[in-house]
Amino acid sequence: MEKTATVRVDLSRGVGDRSYDVLIREGVLEELGAGSLRLPDAESYYVVTDSNVARLYGGRLRNGLSGQRRGRVELLSFRAGEARKNVGTAWALASRLGALGAERGSVILALGGGVVGDVAGFVASVYKRGIGYVQIPTTLLAQVDSSIGGKTGVDAPWGKNQLGTFHQPLAVITDPTVLGTLPRREWINGLAEIVKCAVIADEGMFERISSLPAGFDGSSGIPVELIVGACRVKAGVVSRDERELDLRAILNYGHTVGHALESSSGYRLSHGACVILGMLAEGWIASQMGVFREADYEKQTELLLRIWKGAGVTGLRPVLSNKKRLLRFALADKKTTSSSLRMSLPERLGRMHTTKEGRHKIPVSDEAFVRSIDYLREALRSQR
Ligand code: GLY
Repeated sequence: MEKTATVRVDLSRGVGDRSYDVLIREGVLEELGAGSLRLPDAESYYVVTDSNVARLYGGRLRNGLSGQRRGRVELLSFRAGEARKNVGTAWALASRLGALGAERGSVILALGGGVVGDVAGFVASVYKRGIGYVQIPTTLLAQVDSSIGGKTGVDAPWGKNQLGTFHQPLAVITDPTVLGTLPRREWINGLAEIVKCAVIADEGMFERISSLPAGFDGSSGIPVELIVGACRVKAGVVSRDERELDLRAILNYGHTVGHALESSSGYRLSHGACVILGMLAEGWIASQMGVFREADYEKQTELLLRIWKGAGVTGLRPVLSNKKRLLRFALADKKTTSSSLRMSLPERLGRMHTTKEGRHKIPVSDEAFVRSIDYLREALRSQR
């Protein structure tokens, strides 16, 4: 089994080579603390983390790095929680950096889950017009998705990630052993993205996930090779379309319906649970449009329903019953400038459909969206 891997994000085309490696190795955080892993050179390091992760790993990392006389090392922590992903937190972090005298040669080490990575990356992108940062993701979702690709941002009162930048990290350092402390809700978040990566680009990985034991919900651990596989898929897509001009949209598979469910539930339903349902619904739309090969559609449905059953999610019924509200959220959330919904849809396991013009964003009618919610209600009812 693959226990260590280096995945390259190749951004060597265009102006300046901003390529970087995602290093995935069990125990790599210990190596970092012990000073046996080399970090990108910097005059000072600022470990940005949240209160939960600071308690588990923050002090150890700072003390380890300080002991190696790598220059100045400071720990900057903010209160944990999605609600902290805002401009107030970014401002507080930037102010601390300013007060500590951080210069342009400083490097931020973003140690934590998606909120930490997004906020720390955002601050790194604007502080003194941009300093370097390293992602050290500690949740499964951050390891397989948000730490790779350079999307940074904070939420605003009018929506999620409304202030943000593209700012690629200098490196991503991923230690799967830290996942042992994750709550169950976090597993489904990462697992959903792993399944998504398999459907959009890696049929072999899909088969591997399907062959996991029946009650599999990720809480008993995720094989490292699946983390590596998902990172490969994400890195490959970002390398080809950093700015989401077209191809990168395939990473949003399951997220149009998924985000609508998440928003409509007031974020009570987890991102992962919503993405599982989103892939069920968007897969159904692809099948209805005749683009998703039937046998593959059935395999996807079977796996997603199995994961859904193991996830033990409650409180879905009121969310699914208000279809107009869901459609409103989907239309408000869409990441395109056109007035209709567009989705990335699978053609077969491991390959996404393209239009005649070779585009990955497929127009989908409001009616198809609404009918896919009816489909979800039926499919889940027959699961009870
Ligand atoms: N999570 C989707 C992307 O990074 O593009």
